Amino acid sequence: MALFIIFHLVFPKAVKSLKWQSVFCRERLRLKGDAICTLFLLVALCSLLYSQLEHLKPSVTPKILSDPRAPWRLMPAEATVPRPQVTPIIRRTEVANNRVQTTTPSPLTDSAFNFKHYLLNKDNRNFNLLINQPKKCRKTPGGPFLLIAIKSVVEDFDRREIVRKTWGREGLVNGEQIQRVFLLGTPKNRTVLATWETLIHQESQTYRDILLWDFMDTFFNLTLKEIHFLNWAAEFCHNVKFIFKGDADVFVNVENIVDFLERHDPTEDLFVGDIIYNARPIRVRKSKYYIPETMYGLSIYPAYAGGGGFLLSSRTMRKLSRACREVELFPIDDVFLGMCLQRINLKPILHEGFKTFGIVKPSAAPHLQTFDPCFYKDLMVVHSLKVAEIWLMWNLLHSPHLSCTQKKQVKKPFQWKKKAQITQATPLR
Ligand SMILES: *[C@@H]1O[C@H](CO)[C@@H](O)[C@H](O)[C@H]1NC(C)=O
Ligand SMILES: *[C@@H]1O[C@H](CO)[C@@H](O)[C@H](O)[C@H]1NC(C)=O
Repeated sequence: MALFIIFHLVFPKAVKSLKWQSVFCRERLRLKGDAICTLFLLVALCSLLYSQLEHLKPSVTPKILSDPRAPWRLMPAEATVPRPQVTPIIRRTEVANNRVQTTTPSPLTDSAFNFKHYLLNKDNRNFNLLINQPKKCRKTPGGPFLLIAIKSVVEDFDRREIVRKTWGREGLVNGEQIQRVFLLGTPKNRTVLATWETLIHQESQTYRDILLWDFMDTFFNLTLKEIHFLNWAAEFCHNVKFIFKGDADVFVNVENIVDFLERHDPTEDLFVGDIIYNARPIRVRKSKYYIPETMYGLSIYPAYAGGGGFLLSSRTMRKLSRACREVELFPIDDVFLGMCLQRINLKPILHEGFKTFGIVKPSAAPHLQTFDPCFYKDLMVVHSLKVAEIWLMWNLLHSPHLSCTQKKQVKKPFQWKKKAQITQATPLR
């Protein structure tokens, strides 16, 4: 009976047709007896159940296929942009993996986030600063013009190294003082624990750019990083004029950023980045970004900046550091900062130069487009670059031979496209 009720709830249509069949059966009951009717009903039920399951399959898969890098975006523009040809292959394997997961119970992975545990520990939000750089912003008399704050993890030494040697350099850019810090928590990988502590202290002594807090450096703890950094900046770097905060896998055109910021007043509010509007919380349990209604009941997130990189003024930094203390912890750091912005009633500004979800590459020449330094010349932040790509791009951009009239020359090798058009055109004649 319970089974039937559940069935009724899930497949009302199927139940309707079953009722018809049962009426039909009752008429014949006197002649044939219960047994045949029950058997018939059972077979009907089974076949209907099977057909319903078959119908359900495709409706579940597309939700999981959404781009994990930009999970909350509802921008129609992006949906229509042609994607690189590689994606269909990746998607197919995702579908395959998904099928495997439905037949065998999925193991407890990183994505299996313990919300109950998170909610219970939400008030535990103050952690010690293990490595500080108290003099970071005292080196220049009026304070640095720009502080570059980069989210990193202890294990990613090579990424920090490449950032130090390229866009994250300290010193003067267009006559403005730039300083840099890396934001770290304690490593989640227990096997690296043995040596990491000595290594990170040495790294800190060598470069004086490490900030390390005593919380576990996990994806869902990035909000803690956000809060602790803002508090640190308000305390140890209050004289800074502007802050760039971003990931270590981005390419930042600091010259463009300085140029942009020189036209702004640090004593006024400013928050600029790749702003995402009207994003919806993901309610698909399997998603890395799944947020249950108990955690966030509203249907839309406040406007927030993609975490790849954004800019804020000194004034906004101080206001946000205060506001974020009053906002309940939320496991997605970008959205959390959006909530803090909403609290101080500050509208973040969308700037086209911030490509924190990566560049949508034209499918004809995906590699050429991202490696044309002239393309990067007009941008501020580009997300998702490999270590070598950051190094190469920075050197290309700072090459004395770079002249952006070269752009047309670079496109020459792709004449095969023209040939393809000719061969297509021939049969038509
Ligand atoms: C932890 O780090 C060690 C050494 O770097 C590595 O071999 C191992 O795969 C890592 N474990 C996890 C779970 O990431
Ligand atoms: C965040 O860090 C704290 C302190 O290290 C840890 O207890 C907690 O499990 C971490 N939370 C998540 C979601 O990783």
